[in-house]
Amino acid sequence: AAPCTVLALESSCDDTAAAVLRRTAGGATEILSSVVRGQAELHAGFGGVVPEIAARAHAETLDHCVEQALEASGLGLDDIDAIAVTAGPGLIGGVVSGVMCAKGLAAATGKPLYGINHLAGHALTPGLTDAVPYPWLMLLVSGGHCQFLLVRGPEDFTRLGGTIDDAPGEAFDKIARLLGLPQPGGPAVEAAAKDGDPARFAFPRPLLDRAGCDMSFSGLKTAVLRTRDALIADQGGLTEQDRCDLCAGFQAAVADVFAEKTRRAMDNYPKVADQTPVICVAGGVAANITIRRALETVSQEFGARFIAPPLALCTDNAAMIGYAALEQMAISGPSGMSLPARPRWPL
Ligand code: KG4
Ligand code: ZN
Repeated sequence: AAPCTVLALESSCDDTAAAVLRRTAGGATEILSSVVRGQAELHAGFGGVVPEIAARAHAETLDHCVEQALEASGLGLDDIDAIAVTAGPGLIGGVVSGVMCAKGLAAATGKPLYGINHLAGHALTPGLTDAVPYPWLMLLVSGGHCQFLLVRGPEDFTRLGGTIDDAPGEAFDKIARLLGLPQPGGPAVEAAAKDGDPARFAFPRPLLDRAGCDMSFSGLKTAVLRTRDALIADQGGLTEQDRCDLCAGFQAAVADVFAEKTRRAMDNYPKVADQTPVICVAGGVAANITIRRALETVSQEFGARFIAPPLALCTDNAAMIGYAALEQMAISGPSGMSLPARPRWPL
């Protein structure tokens, strides 16, 4: 195949990102640059991402990200062969900003435009970081996502199940808030859990009694809240140890659910002769060591290789969007200038 250099944009949530990737004639993919600008400070006082603020920040920041990504890659716009952009799903204002910026770049350069599904970007990342062959099982877990995907090819995804209520990252953030810990909640809960006893409180493992890979975190969150309230009613407050035990119990429940549902997801894994099965995790929650260990253990049970991409490629970034474009352009043509921005876009 001819070598190809792609400039990719991502702006579907609260990170503005641009990246330059090169695919060599031999088929290897190199990340020449990857720039991510978070918006955490802008949303800090609001208890969540404010769509209008996010959209405005993306619109203001995209150009700078593109400039930085090009500069860091050592290339100019003339060297780019294709433009890739997240065209959904996500907060529509941000997606529109990205798609408009990408259309401008495509019009200016005369290069083809590829609209990429954000979830496909996450799901394909193991191919970028570890050059593994298809298929693989992906558990995508973050503040906004929670699903098991069987990835058989660049455009061949089967959703095996997902959360029926909150995403796990949301639950970590909520638990942290309930216990007076800082945001983002995931790292704070994990740190507190280190000194906690995961067995002190018997929190539920929701939906394990139900077949399939669907998950639920809302009831678990409520169970932690009730236990907290009971402790406060009994003792007039929470001790440091109570906080740590609550965090450890919650984290252990989440890890158990992921592990057991991964076992069930593996029932659907296609057998490929002479190929080691691959289990992957991505998304912000994949940073959690207890959760990684639980998934590693399950991978060993199935003789599978376990892959967790480096965190920078595991959370929202544009390199994964560029990689998805490089993978998909072998199968499908460019999107064209009528590419829509889609708030919802199931894989
Ligand atoms: O992928 P991400 O950066 O952003 C989106 O959700 O799009 O994920 C952020 C989420 C937050 O909810 C955060 O609390 C959670 O990932 N998170 C963690 C950890 N680090 C981040 N959850 C559990 N353990 C962690 N160490
Ligand atoms: Zn994402």
